[in-house]
Amino acid sequence: MMNLWFLFWVFFVGIFGSVNVEGLGVNWGTMATHKLPPKIVVQMLKDNGIQKVKLFDAEDSTMSALAGSGIEVMVAIPNDQLTAMNDYDTAKKWVRRNVTRYNFNGGVNIKYVAVGNEPFLESYNNSFLNVTFPALQNIQNALNEAGVGDSIKATVPLNADVYNSPANNPVPSSGKFRSDISDLMAQIVQFLNKNKAPFTVNIYPFLSLYANDDFPLDFAFFDGGSTPIIDNGISYTNVFDANFDTLVWALRSVGFGDMPIFIGEVGWPTDGDKHANLAYAQRFYTGLLKRLGANQGTPMRPGFIEVYMFGLIDEDAKSIAPGNFERHWGIFSYDGQPKYPIDLSGQGQNRLLIGAQNVQYLEKKWCVFNPNAKDLNLTKLGENINYACTFSDCTALGYGSSCNNLDAQANASYAFNMYYQVQNQADLSCNFQGLAMLTSENMSQGTCNFIIQIASSGFLGPSLMTLALVTVLAFFFVY
Ligand SMILES: *[C@@H]1O[C@H](CO)[C@@H](O)[C@H](O)[C@H]1NC(C)=O
Ligand SMILES: *[C@@H]1O[C@H](CO)[C@@H](O)[C@H](O)[C@H]1NC(C)=O
Ligand SMILES: *[C@@H]1O[C@H](CO)[C@@H](O)[C@H](O)[C@H]1NC(C)=O
Ligand SMILES: *[C@@H]1O[C@H](CO)[C@@H](O)[C@H](O)[C@H]1NC(C)=O
Ligand SMILES: *[C@@H]1O[C@H](CO)[C@@H](O)[C@H](O)[C@H]1NC(C)=O
Repeated sequence: MMNLWFLFWVFFVGIFGSVNVEGLGVNWGTMATHKLPPKIVVQMLKDNGIQKVKLFDAEDSTMSALAGSGIEVMVAIPNDQLTAMNDYDTAKKWVRRNVTRYNFNGGVNIKYVAVGNEPFLESYNNSFLNVTFPALQNIQNALNEAGVGDSIKATVPLNADVYNSPANNPVPSSGKFRSDISDLMAQIVQFLNKNKAPFTVNIYPFLSLYANDDFPLDFAFFDGGSTPIIDNGISYTNVFDANFDTLVWALRSVGFGDMPIFIGEVGWPTDGDKHANLAYAQRFYTGLLKRLGANQGTPMRPGFIEVYMFGLIDEDAKSIAPGNFERHWGIFSYDGQPKYPIDLSGQGQNRLLIGAQNVQYLEKKWCVFNPNAKDLNLTKLGENINYACTFSDCTALGYGSSCNNLDAQANASYAFNMYYQVQNQADLSCNFQGLAMLTSENMSQGTCNFIIQIASSGFLGPSLMTLALVTVLAFFFVY
């Protein structure tokens, strides 16, 4: 046994150099037109030593793929189901169906239930204000009643705009919960504390930069190149620390300054904005992971912080209401391939992650603008590009993005191809009133990638019943 472990260790360290930052997790969102098969994604997590994953639902196929992997999972209840969870019986059913059902030897290692996703965002116009706390209570109570409440905790991933500092004293130590929800937040925090559940917050230095043209660029990163904010003698050199500590002070103001805080989401997008690119993403993660690896924490909370990166894979069907960058948060591209070197070990050794294995692609065919198109009519061309982009992802064409410097014809080609790929290369989807044609020549140029989509998977993996059965049988054979 000793020898086997030793060999394993040598093998592991040989491949990875060192193990990952302790507790490092990642968000696995699935709002993509073409999803990688969950089994392949889980293998990718394992190959890269990622041991915690946060989901946005509790889909069967995802859960089945995670079963037996040992990976720690945060399952989630989407915002549109919060109202339903205000009924205790419905909450109990949710817990039975989506938590306790997976709680068997060889099942899914569920540790947390995320109740809603940033439900108090100001852009939601208070839609979830009255339903979130009752849903949280019902879910945790149902977990407790089912006998799993000691090991599985309900939490609410909140956006960082639930707290702030006043404009006339913008330092962390004047942090308070937003005045319109301060009573509600105090109640939530009290309930989380009673159940030993963490406070979960999403912190996005990128969004600070995006939202404000005057925001000092260097303050979004961790390399200290910016004029610090001084708060009671503490010097803040990056917005992540300042933001996190504003929350610590807000928690303190309601009497829970020591409550555990999870970072539910943090990351940097690679396309769709002038500040969203590979170099900035790499710079951000290099700084973040080095700090996490050193358990540096923040001035108010030195030490370990549990963090879930956002996100795992690009999602080409996400809403772009917040901005074009929304579809480009992945540390992997849409097809599970690494985008840039990153240092999950936190030891300052950037390297390419291990990409998804055995990905099935559609044929090597692209749909492009036909230069010989008869009666080229620019109005018609514009209408067709518009149509293509309405039903596919053209965010890379925007200002400051990877395909922003294409000429008008290549621009049309890009749009036509994105549509054609989303349509699984259906013949009729490459016409555009005679303006398009097929080619087997890859038109990618510079930073602009003309993609081939992945083939939609028919492979669903073993059903949960099969897995449960196998486990039961294994149980009998072993004991
Ligand atoms: C379990 O989760 C799935 C996926 O998020 C959801 O569609 C379903 O409604 C949930 N089941 C119950 C009984 O609430
Ligand atoms: C919130 O209100 C604004 C302005 O009234 C509206 O444009 C927007 O669609 C609303 N958002 C939601 C999520 O209801
Ligand atoms: C939430 O409850 C308050 C007080 O009962 C009520 O005034 C408000 O209209 C409710 N908001 C929503 C969005 O239902
Ligand atoms: C170009 O196309 C538009 C609509 O697609 C049409 O209204 C217009 O008459 C066309 N122009 C010419 C010169 O054919
Ligand atoms: C390319 O297409 C995008 C999106 O439709 C548009 O905003 C941009 O102006 C176009 N560029 C050129 C050179 O036609």
